[in-house]
This record gives sequence, C-alpha cells and structure tokens, in this order.
Amino acid sequence: MYTKRNPAWTLFLLSTLPTGWTLSFEIPSTPPANSSGILSAAPVGVSFEFFAFPGYMQDVPGTAQCLANLEAAAGASPTIRIGGTTHIAAAQTAVGAVSNLSAFELGNEPDAYSNSDPIAEGNTWSASADASTQVSWQESVASAIGKTDIIQAGVFSSKKTFNVQELSAAEGSAAAYVKSFSDHYYPQTAGYDNLELLMNHTAIKNSISWAVDEITAAKNLSKDFVMGETNSATGIGGGADVSPTYGAALWVLDYVLQAVLIDIKELYFHQGTIGNCRYCWWGRYDMGAPYYGAYMASLALSGASRIAEFDTGDPRYAAYAIYSGDAPVKVLLYNSDYFTGGTRDSVNFTISGIPNTAATAQRLTSSSATNRVDEGATVTIAGQWFANGTCIQTGTESLETTAVSDGEATFTVAAAEALLISIV
Ligand SMILES: *[C@@H]1O[C@H](CO)[C@@H](O)[C@H](O)[C@H]1NC(C)=O
Ligand SMILES: *[C@@H]1O[C@H](CO)[C@@H](O)[C@H](O)[C@H]1NC(C)=O
Ligand SMILES: *[C@@H]1O[C@H](CO)[C@@H](O)[C@H](O)[C@H]1NC(C)=O
Ligand SMILES: *[C@@H]1O[C@H](CO)[C@@H](O)[C@H](O)[C@H]1NC(C)=O
Ligand SMILES: *[C@@H]1O[C@H](CO)[C@@H](O)[C@H](O)[C@H]1NC(C)=O
Ligand SMILES: *[C@@H]1O[C@H](CO)[C@@H](O)[C@H](O)[C@H]1NC(C)=O
Repeated sequence: MYTKRNPAWTLFLLSTLPTGWTLSFEIPSTPPANSSGILSAAPVGVSFEFFAFPGYMQDVPGTAQCLANLEAAAGASPTIRIGGTTHIAAAQTAVGAVSNLSAFELGNEPDAYSNSDPIAEGNTWSASADASTQVSWQESVASAIGKTDIIQAGVFSSKKTFNVQELSAAEGSAAAYVKSFSDHYYPQTAGYDNLELLMNHTAIKNSISWAVDEITAAKNLSKDFVMGETNSATGIGGGADVSPTYGAALWVLDYVLQAVLIDIKELYFHQGTIGNCRYCWWGRYDMGAPYYGAYMASLALSGASRIAEFDTGDPRYAAYAIYSGDAPVKVLLYNSDYFTGGTRDSVNFTISGIPNTAATAQRLTSSSATNRVDEGATVTIAGQWFANGTCIQTGTESLETTAVSDGEATFTVAAAEALLISIV
C-alpha cells in the first residue's frame, strides 16, 4: 500500500506510480497468515549433469569456493542435484563420493522421448507408462543403495502433460523411497528471450503459478516439491540476451523468493557444459552475473523460518519480510524496473514496525540490467564482488546504515536494484 504523503500526487493514483512515489507498509510482528510454510535450510541449490559433475569438481578452480560462498551466505551448505540420463550405473559411486548429496532425481524429459529409447521397448510414450516405469526405477535404485527418502521423483514436460499430480497417484508403497517430487522449469526459450520480461516482478510471480497444484499433490503424500532443474532459458546453456546478464541475477533473486513463498522447498539451478554455458554461475575463467542473485537470495534466506510478501500497491516493486522463528529479522526490497542506462529512477519504501533503532542494508547493483561480468562489467553486493577464476569475495564491504525513528525508516531502491535490510 502506498501513502498519500504528497497531495499533489493524488491525481496519479489512477495510473501507475510516478517516479519517486513512496511505497509504505508495516512489518507484522509475527508471520502473517499469507506467509510461506517453513523454509528449508538452504533453498538455493545447484544442479549438475552426471557427465559434467567431475569436470566441475576437478577442472574448474572456482567451484569449491563458489559453493563455499553460498554456504557461508546461507548458513547451510547448498544442496546439489545430480541429474541426467545415466543414473543407475552412477548412483552407488555418487552416494559414496558426495556425503551430503541430498537426493537422486529419476525421470526423463518426455519431450525428448523417442520410441527407440531403451526404456520405451518400442512403445509410444504415455504419461501413465512413464509414471509406472518411474515407480519401478525408484524401487530398484533405492533398494540397490539401501536408502529410503532418497529419490527426487522427476516429472518434466513443457506441455505439463506428465506431472506430479499423475505420478504421485501412481506411487503406492514406493512413496517411501521418494524424498521429494521435482519438476523442471525454464521461463524463457533461447532465441525468444526477453530480459525486461525475465526480471519483471509480476511476470515472475505469474509464470510459476502453475506449480501450485503440483505442490499440493506432493504435500498430499507428505513430500516436498522442488524445482529439480531450473534456469533462465532453455537452449544450449541458456539465452544469449538474458542468461549471462545482471538482469538474470535479479531474476534468480526474485524467483527464489516467489518460489519459497508458495512452498517450493529447494531450487536446483542448472549448470551446463563447462565453457559453453550462458546461465552458469561461474566458469573456469570468469564469474557469471547470475551468481550474484543466488548469493543475495542465500543471504536473504539465511536463518529464515518463513517469508511473507507485502502488497506494495505497485506490482513493479516487491517487498518481503523474512522471519526467524516468529520474529521479523530482514526485509528484501526489489525494484524490477528495467534499466540499461540514462537517468536511473528510484522508489522510496517507508517501512514501519522495525524493532530496532537502526537498520543495516546490503545493496545488489550494477550499472545496467544487460551487464555481463565476462564482458568487463561489475556487479556488487554491499560494494563487494567475486573474483574471476577463484570466486573469492573481493573489495571492501559497504553496509548502508539507516536511522529508525519510532520504528520507521525510508529506503531508496533504484531501477533494477535490490536491497536486503537487517532490521534487528
Ligand atoms: C527518497 O528518500 C530520500 C531519503 O530519505 C530523500 O532524500 C528523497 O527525496 C526521497 N525521494 C522522493 C522522490 O521522495
Ligand atoms: C557438503 O559438501 C561440500 C562439497 O563437498 C562441502 O564443502 C561441505 O562441507 C559439505 N557439508 C556438509 C554439511 O557435509
Ligand atoms: C510485466 O509483466 C506483466 C505481467 O506479464 C505485464 O502486465 C507488464 O506489462 C510487464 N511490465 C513491463 C514493463 O513490461
Ligand atoms: C491424495 O493421496 C491419496 C492417496 O494417498 C489419493 O487417494 C488422493 O486422490 C490424493 N488426493 C489428491 C487431491 O491428490
Ligand atoms: C499479506 O498479509 C499482510 C498482513 O495482513 C499484508 O500486509 C500483505 O500485504 C499481504 N500480502 C499480499 C501480497 O497481499
Ligand atoms: C573478469 O573477466 C572478464 C573477461 O575476461 C574481464 O573483462 C573482467 O574485467 C574481469 N573482471 C574482474 C573484476 O577482474
């Protein structure tokens, strides 16, 4: 909701907000009824293909540090999903090699199905055949490694003809092996990619609303729903115009917040082929701009129990309260206006209900939504960045301290920026 602080602006209320209008809201002192469910310790995870995983661990020097940074930001190690089509042979090896592997994803992408595939046995694909094949895979893989609660039961179809609603109904006693249900999601398609739309807050919210019925079906079997493989755009490692950019970092951040708000427990951001990957968070030589969104989301959700979103009165500007236990501890603000240069507009958010006399903020920013680290641009969080190649956090931290008066303070967020505010 916005406050009519300046009567001269009243005429604008029927249209969109003018630049500089103050958005205001009060932070509820306990999680409101529209809060998320309980969050997992580290919702921001990473997905690798089986074939690429050893290369990332052995040949990409920044991998361990990039994962360690996310762990330090989140206060818990990021979960790693290893997917692909060669599970059965590799399962036992991987369980031994990665002690904190959380689950195996089983399930093919039916869009890529052909009736000459070994599992097809000459038949054409159907959702019910896929569900029963998958339930038998779950039984054989989980019993081979002697674990229950280990399978991430995957469905994926761009047409959503094979979904969790269908697979969960076929589980029966095999449900014991299932840790979570999983789908894959890429909001855009290479060649048709549009950065302004990717980072648009309303579009981010609307475009994952399909997952709500899937989450409900998973909950019906007391299982989590995760986004088992996700990133900004399909295609070879993403879309050229969106995937490597700072705008994609803003997408990662807001998408994670929207996803956990509807109870998607974890999101595994796909890291593709080393050296040929637009959406990858890091490579052998350079950082990827989207990594900054993952880092900021991990910081925001560190120690969080639940989050709630506010109706700011304008769908371009998002505001989230982040709770620890039952107390509000942080606020995340996102200005999703597209910005690529020229005069940079901003909005002010006036927040009340702050339980402290000062607030400390970390700003995610860069000089253009189209910026790419591998083309020389810098993205910063509280003035710091991650060094190319090593992923070591670099630069001097600059936290923004704002005085709080009677529980109220005002924060300015420019177009294509996000601000994480600690309020305790
Ligand atoms: C936004 O807030 C800042 C700091 O309080 C203030 O200087 C600025 O004038 C405000 N801008 C608008 C347009 O209200
Ligand atoms: C999880 O694995 C990563 C990478 O191997 C490691 O750095 C981290 O310490 C592990 N965390 C736990 C809790 O085992
Ligand atoms: C953002 O997305 C919404 C929903 O798709 C759309 O109505 C709105 O026009 C978009 N805004 C911009 C600036 O493109
Ligand atoms: C919930 O699961 C039960 C089986 O445990 C099934 O019979 C029922 O149809 C499911 N309901 C929904 C809404 O999926
Ligand atoms: C959620 O509920 C709170 C408290 O009632 C309210 O301030 C907030 O605007 C609601 N969120 C949305 C998105 O409507
Ligand atoms: C990162 O690497 C890119 C491409 O080599 C280069 O243009 C950029 O300046 C480097 N950034 C930093 C901070 O060193």
